[in-house]
Amino acid sequence: MIGRLNHVAIAVADLDAAVATYRDTLGGNVSAPKDEPDHGVTTVFVELPNTKIELLYPLGENSPIAAFLEKNPSGGMHHVCYEVDDIMVARDKLVENGARVLGSGEPKIGAHGKPVLFLHPKDFCGTLVELEQA
Ligand code: CO
Repeated sequence: MIGRLNHVAIAVADLDAAVATYRDTLGGNVSAPKDEPDHGVTTVFVELPNTKIELLYPLGENSPIAAFLEKNPSGGMHHVCYEVDDIMVARDKLVENGARVLGSGEPKIGAHGKPVLFLHPKDFCGTLVELEQA
């Protein structure tokens, strides 16, 4: 069911410092920051030849990554995103197998303008999993 690794997301406490690290120290191809009010984050993408790194910085009052950064003040790996062909088929199959879908259970439009869902980390080896319809 899961396809390509679309991105690995890293929560960062200082977006400018993280951009400098990925652009200047690591020599990455770094996008401009983009506010995602529906998701409570500002995102920056680092384009790699085979995948992307998504830098996540809290946006607004109830950012879903605020608690993560409280627990991990220097930042850390937040989620992995796998591509699926059909997000509704994938969701129904996962729910049938007992996996928990976060939020309303309905896909939201993600950072790339495509439907995404998040799956409970306790059901996936302690890792928050994002599914994106490719
Ligand atoms: Co993501």
